[in-house]
Amino acid sequence: MVILGIETSCDETAAALVEKTDNTINVISSSVATSVDMHAKTGGIIPENAAREQIKAIVPVIDQVIGKEKAVIENIDAIAVTTGPGLIGPLLVGVEVAKTLSFVWDKSIIPVNHLMAHVYAAWINDTPAFPAVAVVVSGGHTDFVSMTSHADVAWLGGTRDDAAGEAFDKTARLLDLPYPGGPSISASAEQFLSSKPKDVKLDIFPRPMIDSEDLDMSFSGLKTAVLNFTKSKANFDTNEISANIQEAIVDTIVAKSKFAIEKYKPKSFILAGGVSANKRLREKLLAALQDETHVFIPEIKHSTDNAVMIAAAAHFVGKPLPWAEVSANPNLSIEERP
Ligand code: KG4
Ligand code: ZN
Repeated sequence: MVILGIETSCDETAAALVEKTDNTINVISSSVATSVDMHAKTGGIIPENAAREQIKAIVPVIDQVIGKEKAVIENIDAIAVTTGPGLIGPLLVGVEVAKTLSFVWDKSIIPVNHLMAHVYAAWINDTPAFPAVAVVVSGGHTDFVSMTSHADVAWLGGTRDDAAGEAFDKTARLLDLPYPGGPSISASAEQFLSSKPKDVKLDIFPRPMIDSEDLDMSFSGLKTAVLNFTKSKANFDTNEISANIQEAIVDTIVAKSKFAIEKYKPKSFILAGGVSANKRLREKLLAALQDETHVFIPEIKHSTDNAVMIAAAAHFVGKPLPWAEVSANPNLSIEERP
């Protein structure tokens, strides 16, 4: 079965052609365009701008993955598209393009939940065993879920306020580092870490709720702590502050992941979402958990938003629908099947 995946929930416009044989996902072609440079100029995403950029990029991106050969189009069995959660303007671009293609090609649409699609990035070149626990750490969400099968997903806990990615993005702004904050804080932190002894203390900022006996987290206090710190010092080393911000976020996610494994004893643990591209998080999570369970972390190119994960999710959990029954839902929760 061959699926064309389409992703436009935020500032990436992506398409991919993905085939499933037996239990493996085979990527035929994939393309991602990003409007991140535009958002760097405004220090964050203005939804209207993101939607306009989606409109410009969507046809070229689809063209790149399918081209104009009739045989390639005929071979597509269904179109998978992110219907939520995300920004309504950007989401509508992908959903309406998918509906148009569905109408013209007479193929059904598989609506996909963006958050669960991040989890399915772990199935791209691998097969996590059930029961699994996953944590999705992205720009807008930080959620733990359990999966006893593809059909059975339950929310276990998550952030009570800001998402982990949001904490990176907002604190980077306070340090005058460019948007998106995750990669820029990470690069700045790397500079500090590479010049310091391995056991240097990185405990300037608090880790709220790290010891609470649940999977709840809180990242909004980090912004205030960084703001107070930067206001109270005439001089500070930005790279050192970046390393401390990164460590507070990483330590919290690792501690909660450890708690999730102790409590639920899954056969697989999956780290997913844009923040899972963070090198320090990947290293510390693997070091802390790999003796306890089988840990899956997608390749970096499949950690941040892409369409391969959308098509992969559709292969495992998709319900094909006629185009008229598909609509965008910006507030979809991680447990909801669109
Ligand atoms: O999943 P994603 O690509 O888009 C959403 O669904 O939100 O996640 C984007 C988030 C942003 O907050 C970005 O700063 C963060 O992921 N991010 C990172 C890294 N790369 C992206 N955070 C930390 N380290 C990174 N290397
Ligand atoms: Zn995402």
